[in-house]
Amino acid sequence: MCGIVGYTGSRRAAPVLLELLKKLEYRGYDSAGIAVCYKEQIEIFKRKGKVENIALAEKMQGSTGIGHTRWATHGAPSEKNAHPHSFGKFTIVHNGIIENNKVLKEECLLRGETFLSETDSEVIAHMIAFYDEGDFLLAVQKAVSRLEGSYAIAVLSSEYPDQIVCARIGSPLVVGRNENGSLLASDLVAISSEVDKAYLLKDGDFAVLGKNGIAFYDEKLKSIEKSPMQYDTVLSNADKKGYMYFMKKEMEEIPSVLSNANLECANGLSYKQFCKVLCQAEYIHIVACGTAYHSGLCAKYAFESLCRVPVEVCIASEYRYNNPIIRPNTLVIAISQSGETADTLAASKLAKDRGAYLAAVTNVPYSSLTRIADCVLETKAGAEVAVAATKSFNAQLAVLYLLALFRAKGEADFSEIARLAKETLKVSEEVRGWTHYFLNAKSVYFIGRGVDYCAALEGSLKLKEISYLPSEGYAAGELKHGTLALVDEKTPVVAILTQHELAEKTMNAVHETRSRGARVFLITSLPEAAKSGEATASILIPACREIFSPILSVIPLQALAFYTSLARGNDPDKPRHLAKSVTVE
Ligand code: AGP
Repeated sequence: MCGIVGYTGSRRAAPVLLELLKKLEYRGYDSAGIAVCYKEQIEIFKRKGKVENIALAEKMQGSTGIGHTRWATHGAPSEKNAHPHSFGKFTIVHNGIIENNKVLKEECLLRGETFLSETDSEVIAHMIAFYDEGDFLLAVQKAVSRLEGSYAIAVLSSEYPDQIVCARIGSPLVVGRNENGSLLASDLVAISSEVDKAYLLKDGDFAVLGKNGIAFYDEKLKSIEKSPMQYDTVLSNADKKGYMYFMKKEMEEIPSVLSNANLECANGLSYKQFCKVLCQAEYIHIVACGTAYHSGLCAKYAFESLCRVPVEVCIASEYRYNNPIIRPNTLVIAISQSGETADTLAASKLAKDRGAYLAAVTNVPYSSLTRIADCVLETKAGAEVAVAATKSFNAQLAVLYLLALFRAKGEADFSEIARLAKETLKVSEEVRGWTHYFLNAKSVYFIGRGVDYCAALEGSLKLKEISYLPSEGYAAGELKHGTLALVDEKTPVVAILTQHELAEKTMNAVHETRSRGARVFLITSLPEAAKSGEATASILIPACREIFSPILSVIPLQALAFYTSLARGNDPDKPRHLAKSVTVE
C-alpha cells in the first residue's frame, strides 16, 4: 500500500531514490514521484503509472530528497494525486490512511488554504505548515498528533535543505546509514543491500535524517537510542536473479524453501511456552487474508485430522467485526507473509485483547505482526516481491504442517517433499499448453473436495489476481446444488484430485461438468485418474501424504495463473489495482 523512500547524503538524491522506489513497487504502482531539495527550493517530479514513468527525474540536482510509489485509496491514480504533496515550505510523502482527513481539510479551508489533490495525504503538509514556528521536528510532531489513522511519512522543508523528518504509526518504516548518507524506506528490502546498519521505527517514533547521522526521538521528542536490526541480508534482498518475472523466480524457489522448513526459527524462550500452549490448546483460531487464509484452511485439515483439535479459520477482516467467541485455552494463529496486513493485525490485536495466546506465522521477522505476537514462527521463504503469493504459501503450509505434526508427535521428511516439489515444478510446465483454452473464458471453475478444495480456492484466487478472468473455487460436491447451471463450453473447469478416498466422487463432478460442455483440466496425483482419459487434459503430479497434498498441487495452479496472465498480455508481477502489502483496512 504505497512505498515511501528518502535519502540525504553526499550523492545526488534522485538516482538513489529511483533505485529505492523500484524495489518498493510491489507496494503500489499506479503513480510515482520524487521531491528533491536544491538551492533551498523543493522540486517535484511525478507522473501517473509505474516508477519507470519518472525516469526523467534522474537528472534532478540536489542531495536530499523523498519519493513515493502509490496504490490509490483516496483519489484516482493521476498525476495530481501522485505524491509528493506540498504546502508552504513543506513537502511530504505518505503511506497509510488519514481517517480524519475531511475534518482537518475543513479546518485548512476555513483558513483560506487550497488543495491541489483529492488525497487524504495532502492535508499533512498543511497541518505541518500550520504548526510551524521555525522548529522542523516540532512542527511535524504537532501535526501528526492531530492525525487519526495510519501513517509513515517523510517530510522535507525548504528551510532545512539537508534534513528529512520521518514518523510512523501503523505503517512500516525503516531507516539506515552508509558511508554516503542516510536512507529511509517502507521496507527493509529496499535498503538492506545499501546500508551498513538499519533501524526499525516503532509506532510513535520520529527520526531526523541528516547527511552525517540519524537522530531518533520518542513521541514526546525525547531523544532515544536504537539498536540496529538483525537481519539476514540474503533473505531480505529482492533480486530477479536473471528471471524475467519475480513470480517465476519465486515459484522456482519453492523446493529450496521447503527443504529449509523447520520450527527452530521461532523466537527463543517464548517458543518453549508456545509449544506448551500448542499442545494444550483446546481450540485453535486462524486469522489471515487472501492466500494466507487459504493456507489456514489447509492447516485446519491437518490439525483436525492429526490432532483432533477443533480449528476455526477466519477471514481477518470478518473476524474483527463478528464478535468472535474466544474461550480460555484458545490459541490464535495469525498468518501473514508481510506481517503488515492491516486486517490481520486488527484481528490479532482483538484476539490478544480478549486473552488469547497469539502465534504469528510470517515471512518478515521485523514486521508489525511480530511485535504483537507472543511467539513468532518465521517461514524464512526469503523476500517475496511478486504481488501474487507463491513460495510464501508453500512455506506457510510447511510451518503449519510441522506445528500439527509437533502436537500429534508425528514426523514428516521435508527434504523429500522438497524433492517432490522440484518434480512438480517440472511437470507443471505442461499447463502452459492449456492456456489457450482459458484466454477468453467466460469464467473458470476450480473444483476439489477436502484439501483439494482448499487448493482449488487458492488456484482460483491466483488466476483472478493476475489474469483478470472471473473465476471461482468450488467444493466439487456442491456444484450440482446450483452453480452447475453456469457451466457450459465457455467455462473451463480445473479439477484437483489427490485423495484416493474421494476419487470417485470428484470424478463424478468431472463428468457432470464435461456433460455440460465444459473442458475439464485435471491435476492429480492418482495415476489411474490421469490415465482415465476422462478429462480434456490432465497432468500427473507426485504424490505425498494426502493431508499435505496442497503443498504440491498448488504448484501447477500457480503455473497456470502465471502462463495465462502472460498469454493475456498482463504483467504477472504487478496486477492492476493491487499491491503486495495491504496496510489499510
Ligand atoms: C495473494 O496472491 C495475494 N496477493 C493476497 O491475497 C495476500 O495473500 C493477502 O493480501 C495477505 O497478505 P499477507 O500474507 O501479507 O498478510
